[in-house]
Amino acid sequence: MFNLILFGPPGSGKGTQSDKLVGKYGLIHLSTGNLLREEIAEKTPLGIEAKSLMDKGQLVPDEVVIGMIDSSLEHHKDAKGFLFDGFPRTIAQARALDKLLELKKTGINTVISLDVGEEELIQRLLNRGKTSGRSDDTDEIVIRKRFAVYNNETTPVAEYYKKARKFQSVKGEGTVDEIFETLCRVMDKKMKQ
Ligand code: AP5
Ligand code: MG
Repeated sequence: MFNLILFGPPGSGKGTQSDKLVGKYGLIHLSTGNLLREEIAEKTPLGIEAKSLMDKGQLVPDEVVIGMIDSSLEHHKDAKGFLFDGFPRTIAQARALDKLLELKKTGINTVISLDVGEEELIQRLLNRGKTSGRSDDTDEIVIRKRFAVYNNETTPVAEYYKKARKFQSVKGEGTVDEIFETLCRVMDKKMKQ
């Protein structure tokens, strides 16, 4: 198995690049943001609870997203590997993911972080908000809250993987294709190791 975490702040291109990477490398894309938005669309109790937090730019409780990842891993028992997008976002989530993968006799191979400046991120998100229907993209105050949550709660996750020597950053600015090429170079190298 080959398991990748695509890491980075809101708007850094995780979803965009995940779509391309899973096609090329045959991985299963697990985005907790997408899974939560599906719950919201279906108006499940979990979705209703998550929506009020997501609308404010806050994180959904760890046990909720860990449970979603656990059942997705179970659901794809024959996967060649997974691409985690927007997960883990806290140290508790990172530890839980390690445990879940260990039970499956596998682990995280690499974490690639997309580096993008904050002003570019805000422009991308406000731009997407015009058409996406994502309530957390239309208000600059909520977008800034998402960055603050990322800086406070999610950047420690980068340290967690740096200590494990699994973390690497790439430039996340430029065209989608340029960034994809860079990611593929990193992936090809890591897959040979
Ligand atoms: P989530 O859905 O994960 O959102 P996010 O991390 O805030 O990031 P985005 O999806 O907005 O950005 P992205 O990096 O995927 O970029 P994208 O490719 O879309 O989470 C949403 C919420 O759910 C959280 O706030 C939280 O409440 C909750 N949640 C989710 N996971 C959780 C977890 N694990 N724990 C707790 N709570 C959780 O690109 C953005 C835009 O830029 C697009 O319009 C795209 O077209 C454009 N773009 C992409 N690449 C480029 C480029 N190279 N040049 C120009 N534009 C580009
Ligand atoms: Mg995304």
